[in-house]
Amino acid sequence: MLARAFRDNPLNVAVIGDSPARRLRCNRAGVAALLDSTRRHGLLLFAEAETKLLGALAAVPPSANPLPPPAPAVQFRTLLSQGFRVASRWGAIARRLQVLHPQRPHWYVASLGVEPAAQGRGLGAALLTRLLERADREGFPTYLETDRIRNVGFYEARGFRVEEQIALLGVPVWRMWRASN
Ligand SMILES: CC(C)(COP(=O)(O)OP(=O)(O)OC[C@H]1O[C@@H](n2cnc3c(N)ncnc32)[C@H](O)[C@@H]1OP(=O)(O)O)[C@@H](O)C(=O)NCCC(=O)NCCS
Repeated sequence: MLARAFRDNPLNVAVIGDSPARRLRCNRAGVAALLDSTRRHGLLLFAEAETKLLGALAAVPPSANPLPPPAPAVQFRTLLSQGFRVASRWGAIARRLQVLHPQRPHWYVASLGVEPAAQGRGLGAALLTRLLERADREGFPTYLETDRIRNVGFYEARGFRVEEQIALLGVPVWRMWRASN
């Protein structure tokens, strides 16, 4: 589901290329790696309807930043599935973002995605609200990056402010921060 949600995001197209099928394949491997780490060290929230998974949020708690890498076997499978060029591009992007990552303790939204056919129905907002309520209860700020201008308004409406706009492979990416309430 997350692989489908991110298939057409600008950074996905820039890193993987024009083939939607290839982007989906590469994303599946990337999501598997992210979930391997998040399951063990982070927080996963799900939105479901009639036993169908429609949305997911993967977050890294203040105590686990930066998220430890996935198990070596998972990393190897990701490399095999994505191919060297795509895997090394994602690696370079991750390193660049890590350098810019805030040092202050915070919750990090590593991924938030909704099944494309179910977008615009409030599922993404509901998942994010669950995380933000917890961050507020604990008194922590929240941080994320996004590569879609449309998402900037979505996050601003929920208390985030743009810290900085950068470019990754020529794609605009917004780094966003939300103080706790
Ligand atoms: C961004 C995303 C998680 C939002 O979830 P959603 O369930 O579609 O959004 P919601 O229905 O909860 O909220 C819609 C609100 O966001 C805005 N919005 C942003 N992106 C949208 C999209 N692709 N479709 C519909 N609304 C979108 C709407 O204007 C709406 O504003 P409102 O709160 O003033 O009504 C989802 O569209 C998605 O998975 N996008 C692709 C992956 C992605 O970019 N994820 C974010 C990574 S940082």
